[in-house]
Amino acid sequence: MQSLAVQISALFLLLLAACFVWVLGKATTRVPLEQVAPAAYRARSKLFIVALIAGVLIALLTLAPWPHDAHASEVTRRIDVKARQWAWDLSDAKAQVGEVIEFRVSSEDVNHGFALYDAQQKIVAQIQAMPGFVNTVRYRFDSPGTYQILCLEFCGVAHHAMVAELNVTAQP
Ligand code: CUA
Repeated sequence: MQSLAVQISALFLLLLAACFVWVLGKATTRVPLEQVAPAAYRARSKLFIVALIAGVLIALLTLAPWPHDAHASEVTRRIDVKARQWAWDLSDAKAQVGEVIEFRVSSEDVNHGFALYDAQQKIVAQIQAMPGFVNTVRYRFDSPGTYQILCLEFCGVAHHAMVAELNVTAQP
């Protein structure tokens, strides 16, 4: 099946190349657009400038808030997270409502995907766990319950078994 797809693709590529060669053969001297259609040339130049300005403005406005540094000044505690085939090692598995936890995530072997799920199984924070790097992600715990950490990156036969729990309790 795959070799048939390759052969059909190659056939169409050859046809396309033949079209280019045919057009090239028929081409005579090149006439600049500003001579053939001056109005279209002017419109194109204006459109280019408008698109350029719009592109720069949109890029500036949408990139300004990056990188996000959510809750940086409010971090109350850090939890070290080490991923390995196939488990999560947490330096602490408890938190209190109102805390802003910074998870410092790394891996001892291959890439894993750190994903924090709340008690309703909704994903609330996510970051890559990579060997040789410590990636941080912060989350403010606003409601109590049993949160789960699951792996989002396929990392081997027991990938699905990488589950850890974090108990979040109401403040005393
Ligand atoms: Cu670790 Cu999938």
